[in-house]
Amino acid sequence: MPQNAAVTERTVAVLAGGLSHEREVSLRSGRRLATALSEAGASVREWDVDAALVERLRSDPPDAVAIALHGGEGENGSVQAVLELLGVPFVGTPAQACRRAWDKPTAKAELARAGLDTPDWVALPHTTFRALGAQAVLDAMVDRLGLPLMLKPDQGGSALGSQVVKERAELPAAMVSCLAYADTVLAEHFVAGTEVAVTVVHDGKEPRALPPVEVDAGGVYDYTARYTPGAATFHCPARLDDMTLAALAETALAAHQLLGLRDVSRMDAVVDGDGRVQILEVNVSPGLTETSLLPTAVRAAGMKLGDLYSALIERAVARR
Ligand SMILES: Nc1ncnc2c1ncn2[C@@H]1O[C@H](COP(=O)(O)OP(=O)(O)O)[C@@H](O)[C@H]1O
Ligand SMILES: [Mg+2]
Repeated sequence: MPQNAAVTERTVAVLAGGLSHEREVSLRSGRRLATALSEAGASVREWDVDAALVERLRSDPPDAVAIALHGGEGENGSVQAVLELLGVPFVGTPAQACRRAWDKPTAKAELARAGLDTPDWVALPHTTFRALGAQAVLDAMVDRLGLPLMLKPDQGGSALGSQVVKERAELPAAMVSCLAYADTVLAEHFVAGTEVAVTVVHDGKEPRALPPVEVDAGGVYDYTARYTPGAATFHCPARLDDMTLAALAETALAAHQLLGLRDVSRMDAVVDGDGRVQILEVNVSPGLTETSLLPTAVRAAGMKLGDLYSALIERAVARR
């Protein structure tokens, strides 16, 4: 029997595009996923997320939807909520858990409460700086988190608006750039160490972690480093000792379960100087482009992207 016997009978709608800052990346993820699923034998449509989507889902319902959206409606739970409303099965995390994972400070608070490590942080809406005086608040931030510190939008992806602040004098301008992407800034202690991404997939009986991918971007893994082939170097499995690799897998699985994630997720983390896994964030809709981390882990695990997603689609259909 061919490996993907079931998926050859499936119609799958791959959702990609949308109006977020990550539209271009999403279109590339969607293309890649659509090709992989077609090769596995599924009948695939590629749909953008626009005013025609609900009508399409109603008039031509696919067996399941696979979401390749990044940075907006497809990660914050909105598209998931609409799919739940329409009763269309989809691969991935339910709406409510997406919302929680998408908001970095909310997710960090949950992880920290459960005893997992995440860099010390403060999240402040832009209004606070006006109300309490930017100078005083920024000073308090530096006193607590130290320098360098990391600034990022509380919600978002692809490191858009994120930056390292090395000196106090750089902070006001960095805040302004960050606030162009969000109303609330997440300031974090900067963790020096080895950057890793761990994909969790639930394609069998239990969720499992794929081999950790080490990212060497020669600094912050920013937008250019992510989507320019060759700009970052990957090692999979990461060049870390077995104990640390095991801790990474365990932490990614714990975060996946704690935050109520489903089918697939990717934890971004830094292993600090003491060998501790510091969780930066957990993604419900990991990138699937040629240079993305999930496909790298899938390859290293000896799997094919199309086979993995075929299995996830069967799980989604079974939930109907
Ligand atoms: N606290 C931190 N310490 C060190 N580097 C960080 C920290 N937070 C983020 N980074 C760097 O910035 C990148 C983006 O941060 P992340 O929290 O994963 O947000 P995004 O949703 O944009 O991927 C990471 O891949 C990492 O290179
Ligand atoms: Mg990330």
